[in-house]
Amino acid sequence: MSHRVWCCLSLWLVLALLLIIRGGGVRAEFYSSVDSMQDLGQLELELLNATRSYLKAQQQQINLYRKFVEQLKREHVMAMDLIDLDEYLGHPLHAFRLIKRLVYDWDALHAPVVENKPREDYRQVVDSLSKEVGFPDLSELQGAVKGLARLQRVYNFTAPDLADGIINGFFYDSEMDWRDCYEIGVQLFDLGEHHRSLEWLQEAFRLLRANPEMKEAEKPQFIADIREYAALANFELGKPTRAGTLLEKVLQTEPTHPARHIQKYVDYRDLAGSNKHEKEPSWFGNYSRLCQGRRLPEKGSGTSLRCFLDGKRHAYFTLAPLQVEQVHLDPDIDVYHGILTLDQIDSIFEAADKQEMTRSGVAGDGGTRTVVDLRVSQQTWLDYESPIMKSIARLVVFISGFDIAGAEAMQVANYGVGGQYEPHPDYFEVNLPSDFKGDRISTSMFYLSDVEQGGYTVFTKLNVFLPPIKGALVMWHNLHRSLDVDPRTHHAGCPVIVGSKRIGNIWIHSGHQEFRRPCNLTSDSFKSVAYRE
Ligand SMILES: *[C@@H]1O[C@H](CO)[C@@H](O)[C@H](O)[C@H]1NC(C)=O
Ligand SMILES: *[C@@H]1O[C@H](CO)[C@@H](O)[C@H](O)[C@H]1NC(C)=O
Ligand SMILES: *[C@@H]1O[C@H](CO)[C@@H](O)[C@H](O)[C@H]1NC(C)=O
Ligand SMILES: *[C@@H]1O[C@H](CO)[C@@H](O)[C@H](O)[C@H]1NC(C)=O
Repeated sequence: MSHRVWCCLSLWLVLALLLIIRGGGVRAEFYSSVDSMQDLGQLELELLNATRSYLKAQQQQINLYRKFVEQLKREHVMAMDLIDLDEYLGHPLHAFRLIKRLVYDWDALHAPVVENKPREDYRQVVDSLSKEVGFPDLSELQGAVKGLARLQRVYNFTAPDLADGIINGFFYDSEMDWRDCYEIGVQLFDLGEHHRSLEWLQEAFRLLRANPEMKEAEKPQFIADIREYAALANFELGKPTRAGTLLEKVLQTEPTHPARHIQKYVDYRDLAGSNKHEKEPSWFGNYSRLCQGRRLPEKGSGTSLRCFLDGKRHAYFTLAPLQVEQVHLDPDIDVYHGILTLDQIDSIFEAADKQEMTRSGVAGDGGTRTVVDLRVSQQTWLDYESPIMKSIARLVVFISGFDIAGAEAMQVANYGVGGQYEPHPDYFEVNLPSDFKGDRISTSMFYLSDVEQGGYTVFTKLNVFLPPIKGALVMWHNLHRSLDVDPRTHHAGCPVIVGSKRIGNIWIHSGHQEFRRPCNLTSDSFKSVAYRE
């Protein structure tokens, strides 16, 4: 009996798993933000809790059945061995007990087996979690894998290091097993990242071979699975001979492996047509180098850049002077340290929490937004009505000397696994949204978190990288004084490696600044922007 119960239990677990896999599609895009990843962490804790309760309840029931069965066995042993059955049942007390058992006891035992309350409880938890939070689907998994691939590309991490939990020379307690590596390899293959797919499949192979927990006899079938994908990846990379060798090996050990059908795919496939090379864009070299915190040496660099205290820019800063760090001259990029207190940052998050975050898109004409991979973050917009946002706006006005009128609401963004923005200017130049008065003349970027590793802001044409420092503000002009766009201001957010990156952006528009920043064709300097009351 207990055997059957366990069969039924494992069947149910399989069903639950199917439910989990199929239950997706409720809310996509978990991986693009650490905040929503926290929801998933909570979800798993609750599943774990529910599963533990389920197992405990089942165990209690099984113990009950076992006790009952033991008792009956004793009765029957007595009936068979000590006295014969006729004589046993001829005893009125025994007859009574048999009938009583069949009337009450068995019935009491049947009911919970049929009803299976623990299973119902479990199902309810899964149902409600799936409604409230939603389970991630395959596209989420692919998103997370893409994030990993992005980290590898930008930071030059190898699959073996990542699999061992080594990131940038730091060891994290997060080693992967061969199945994780295999899954990443498969997803990368589906994404067309064949080189990297192969790297992960090799890692899966290495880990599987070295796995002491699996019986040697079980390994060949999994090795065949790995080789199948490795063959496909080699094939896509234009190495049909290597692919053929791998396929042969698969079929030698596992003659019935589904890989035998791949030969057809290989035979009919047009090699020439698929030789698309993953070529990096022209900015990638600068971007990758700066994201890794490496600058190109410059002649005479550093000498003219200064750090200084500025108490004169506005009366507001007399007692607490601005801590200014120049990071580039012409175009000027300045970092203002210690601008926001921790309390102010918490207040911003509170305001942001009240609004739904949405996946960043690229603003197109007519206000349409398309979600694309080059911008992986989630964001929300805060206007300047609340006390905290009023004070933020005041800071930006006092520091920049610009008028906040017509500025866009502050954009608060949160970057998750591999979260990044590829190089872009902040100005529009063409197709200005209809509610804009002028282009985005200046950017004020507040760092609302520290990032454990990665997540730098880099200016790819200026040889500048900025690690996020919580509470600091970076400010620059996107337009020349002539109001022509300044393409040197192309900048990017590097992928977050470890941690969570939060920033707040305020874009001021040129249309309201006639009196604040008179057009001047010769100078873009900050210092010529005097604040006027
Ligand atoms: C875990 O489950 C029990 C009973 O199902 C419940 O009382 C408890 O609140 C749950 N704990 C968490 C953290 O969800
Ligand atoms: C990437 O790392 C490898 C060693 O792991 C090194 O040989 C190679 O030059 C690096 N490439 C770049 C672009 O940094
Ligand atoms: C790369 O950076 C250098 C300065 O460090 C710059 O001169 C060059 O134009 C940049 N290349 C690209 C493609 O942005
Ligand atoms: C433009 O800026 C330069 C340098 O700051 C200054 O000498 C000049 O007077 C300015 N011209 C106008 C028209 O404001």
